[in-house]
Amino acid sequence: MMRQQIAAANWKMNLTYAQAEDLLNDLLLSPHALKPHQSVVLAVPFPYLSLAKHKVDGKAGFFVAAQNCYTKKSGAYTGETSAEMLQSMGIEYVILGHSERREYFNESNAVLAEKINIALSYNITPIFCCGEPLQIREAGTQNSYVAEQLKESLFHLSAEQLEKIVIAYEPIWAIGTGKTATADQAQEMHAHLRTTLANHYGKEVADMIPILYGGSVKGSNAKDIFSRTDVDGGLVGGASLIAADFGQIIDALK
Ligand code: PGA
Repeated sequence: MMRQQIAAANWKMNLTYAQAEDLLNDLLLSPHALKPHQSVVLAVPFPYLSLAKHKVDGKAGFFVAAQNCYTKKSGAYTGETSAEMLQSMGIEYVILGHSERREYFNESNAVLAEKINIALSYNITPIFCCGEPLQIREAGTQNSYVAEQLKESLFHLSAEQLEKIVIAYEPIWAIGTGKTATADQAQEMHAHLRTTLANHYGKEVADMIPILYGGSVKGSNAKDIFSRTDVDGGLVGGASLIAADFGQIIDALK
């Protein structure tokens, strides 16, 4: 069976409501004949979740994601959004541990482990982001750095729980910089991540986990990157805000 292949859009904190509506309309206008093992996940800002959910309704293979959720079930946490709220509106995915959240909102591997737990407990699939900063890549220690992120945030899970996770490898030096990892660099790290998972959970489980690449994916480079054995699609920022570009990325899925 082919692993799930995913084109995920990460809109970040962009677009007005009207612009979001236009982008969703444009994106859903062109028919993307998704195969059963292919999905499109749209991670939109919280205020647009309902709109996006409504727009993708009835579109096979299209899902909506939140870009974050809180560690707690409910309560006096002004400004936060719970996994239960997301589940109650039919949201299927949540991005957790994006490098921007790690950097600007101090999200540690330990906090992310809690977020992973609560998302799973509400049946929401976490898209867990990992990836090294430039100085780690330059020092050549990216493999152990990224393996540590997996260990501290995921390895408390049972195999059955891990099977529900999607991983996104996003080297920080490639995010929003226009500087993509080469297909070789992506494949090399994805293979390493899969081996790290296999060493802990066994090869059969590791082989089921989609590992997406993120960092300056565009319509023009997606096919090359996605063609690699262990690259199961992409998590796309900038290019996901342009319908034609993201459409090309969807069509580049294996
Ligand atoms: P980018 O962002 O495609 O704009 O580099 C990717 C991401 O941060 O998810």
